[in-house]
Amino acid sequence: MRRSFTLVNVLLLLALFGDAPWAIKCSLLCEQGNLAVIRPHSVTITEFGAVGDGVTLNTKAFQNAIFYLNSFADKGGAKLFVPTGRWLTGSFDLISHLTLWLDKDAVILGSTNSDDWPVIDPLPSYGRGRELPGRRHKSLIYGRNLTDVIITGDNGTIDGQGSIWWDWFRNQTLNYTRPHLVEFMNTTGVVISNLTFINSPFWTIHPVYCSQVIVQNVTILAPLDSPNTDGIDPDSSDDVCVEDCYVSTGDDIIAIKSGWDEYGMSYGRPSKNITIRRLVGQTTSAGIAIGSEMSGGVSEVHAENLRFYNSTTGIRIKTSPGRGGYVRNIYISNMSLTDVKTAISFTGRYGEHPDEYYDPTALPLIERITVEDVAGQNVKYAGLLEGIEGDTFLDICLLNINLSVTSKSPWNCSYIQGYSDTVSPEICEPLRERIFPDHYSDCYCLSHHLQSSSNQNRGGAWLSW
Ligand SMILES: *[C@@H]1O[C@H](CO)[C@@H](O)[C@H](O)[C@H]1NC(C)=O
Ligand SMILES: *[C@@H]1O[C@H](CO)[C@@H](O)[C@H](O)[C@H]1NC(C)=O
Ligand SMILES: *[C@@H]1O[C@H](CO)[C@@H](O)[C@H](O)[C@H]1NC(C)=O
Ligand SMILES: *[C@@H]1O[C@H](CO)[C@@H](O)[C@H](O)[C@H]1NC(C)=O
Ligand SMILES: *[C@@H]1O[C@H](CO)[C@@H](O)[C@H](O)[C@H]1NC(C)=O
Ligand SMILES: *[C@@H]1O[C@H](CO)[C@@H](O)[C@H](O)[C@H]1NC(C)=O
Ligand SMILES: *[C@@H]1O[C@H](CO)[C@@H](O)[C@H](O)[C@H]1NC(C)=O
Ligand SMILES: *[C@@H]1O[C@H](CO)[C@@H](O)[C@H](O)[C@H]1NC(C)=O
Ligand SMILES: *[C@@H]1O[C@H](CO)[C@@H](O)[C@H](O)[C@H]1NC(C)=O
Ligand SMILES: *[C@@H]1O[C@H](CO)[C@@H](O)[C@H](O)[C@H]1NC(C)=O
Ligand SMILES: *[C@@H]1O[C@H](CO)[C@@H](O)[C@H](O)[C@H]1NC(C)=O
Ligand SMILES: *[C@@H]1O[C@H](CO)[C@@H](O)[C@H](O)[C@H]1NC(C)=O
Repeated sequence: MRRSFTLVNVLLLLALFGDAPWAIKCSLLCEQGNLAVIRPHSVTITEFGAVGDGVTLNTKAFQNAIFYLNSFADKGGAKLFVPTGRWLTGSFDLISHLTLWLDKDAVILGSTNSDDWPVIDPLPSYGRGRELPGRRHKSLIYGRNLTDVIITGDNGTIDGQGSIWWDWFRNQTLNYTRPHLVEFMNTTGVVISNLTFINSPFWTIHPVYCSQVIVQNVTILAPLDSPNTDGIDPDSSDDVCVEDCYVSTGDDIIAIKSGWDEYGMSYGRPSKNITIRRLVGQTTSAGIAIGSEMSGGVSEVHAENLRFYNSTTGIRIKTSPGRGGYVRNIYISNMSLTDVKTAISFTGRYGEHPDEYYDPTALPLIERITVEDVAGQNVKYAGLLEGIEGDTFLDICLLNINLSVTSKSPWNCSYIQGYSDTVSPEICEPLRERIFPDHYSDCYCLSHHLQSSSNQNRGGAWLSW
């Protein structure tokens, strides 16, 4: 059945795609706007009575400083400067047109008293706290209904001191879902850059119902065995760009989400247009995960130049009957894996439901997922690709993948349909049909590959077929 891929095909494809409008969609967009916004007004946290001794609780100082700066919001905005020191605090809220700036050796420390992290309503798209029914603790740094907020500095640190929360989680003495380190809700224009985030109680950076979010040049650290310390979780958010980050945590490095079962479906806000590039890290979970909460839909995710090591999974899609929603138009390229258990994993039976009212007939639609240019050393499984019976995952395209694997059955595919080319070790039967020449248009973003391979003369592997 295999046809040879001839030069005529190449020329034909190039002619076809030369002006294809959707070729543009496949190029990575991360428009930066003006990242180095100058704020005309600036105050230092010590002007509001803060003491950087690591012991004095400074919640009031942060709140008062930000309250004061609110009067500059319509005058170009303001900067709150946090100098060298250890600034213990409970949760505080940011405002629009604010830059929170942490100097080198400035450390914002989260209080270890749970009363300093107030309890707020659950997200409507989750219907309850993620780990316990009911309300949830508010993040250390929180912003809601804002525009134009920046958290940056000279590699200062925001330290959640999460280990006490991990203990409360492990010994089951939490009363509410654990807090994030940073959360923005319903905010447009967020920049988080040039800082280090450590030991979050729960997910580290959580933009939810947000637009135009940039996370750039940050380091995120938590012990590899700390529970649910995801790095960056764009959730029901669009136009998100994550680049030049190093993340080493106890859960997914990046997890793209959009609400949970019936709550996520009825809230109906997708995550889309998410660009991730130059991401390095390790985790006991996945490098990039989508889901498991994806009930509002996830689409147009482009990730490239990824390096994951000493991790459980490279790319993972997690879903379940009951989730509804969709994951479509996902493009992953140029990923290097070292000492990783499973390179690519799709889980269609993740389970975990908010309550018993979910609709088990609400099946997720998973389609048009392209993974190309992957190299891996000391990988156990190449792909564990498990769709859902009666809900096959469609147009899964794997291209130019070269993994040195240790398992004798490197691929395990069920309820999966798609195409492949140049995959080693040999791909599972459901994906064995070749992409070229008949199925390139079934695969998301391959035109980009063709264009870049011709432009960059990266065509060696291609023309050798
Ligand atoms: C955000 O906007 C919502 C809807 O208008 C409102 O209910 C909520 O109180 C606002 N919250 C804040 C902190 O401004
Ligand atoms: C989002 O924030 C805007 C103000 O920035 C507010 O008008 C709107 O009601 C908020 N929406 C929700 C759902 O909170
Ligand atoms: C990354 O952030 C550090 C400070 O944390 C800064 O020195 C460096 O220049 C930044 N790099 C880029 C590319 O922005
Ligand atoms: C920032 O600090 C972290 C933690 O100390 C360090 O790992 C990282 O290399 C630093 N980043 C830069 C750009 O200096
Ligand atoms: C649970 O962990 C917390 C924090 O370490 C500790 O204070 C508490 O005594 C522990 N409770 C139980 C029941 O083990
Ligand atoms: C849970 O509530 C109990 C009773 O109010 C309180 O003693 C305990 O400190 C709370 N636990 C946490 C982790 O906040
Ligand atoms: C990060 O720091 C570098 C060096 O100071 C600076 O050039 C760059 O603009 C900063 N990035 C952001 C997004 O603030
Ligand atoms: C995607 O998001 C970027 C910001 O990261 C933005 O510049 C671009 O216009 C968005 N593209 C579309 C098609 O919305
Ligand atoms: C692939 O990603 C690596 C970083 O992981 C980068 O050094 C390399 O230049 C990228 N290759 C291409 C062709 O973009
Ligand atoms: C690799 O990950 C394991 C946990 O999965 C951890 O114990 C070990 O320290 C990590 N190795 C390195 C070199 O970071
Ligand atoms: C696959 O990678 C191995 C090194 O791990 C290399 O020796 C081999 O040439 C590669 N195969 C192809 C087809 O690129
Ligand atoms: C393939 O995966 C399924 C679960 O998805 C498992 O039950 C089965 O044993 C696996 N088969 C092999 C050969 O590993």
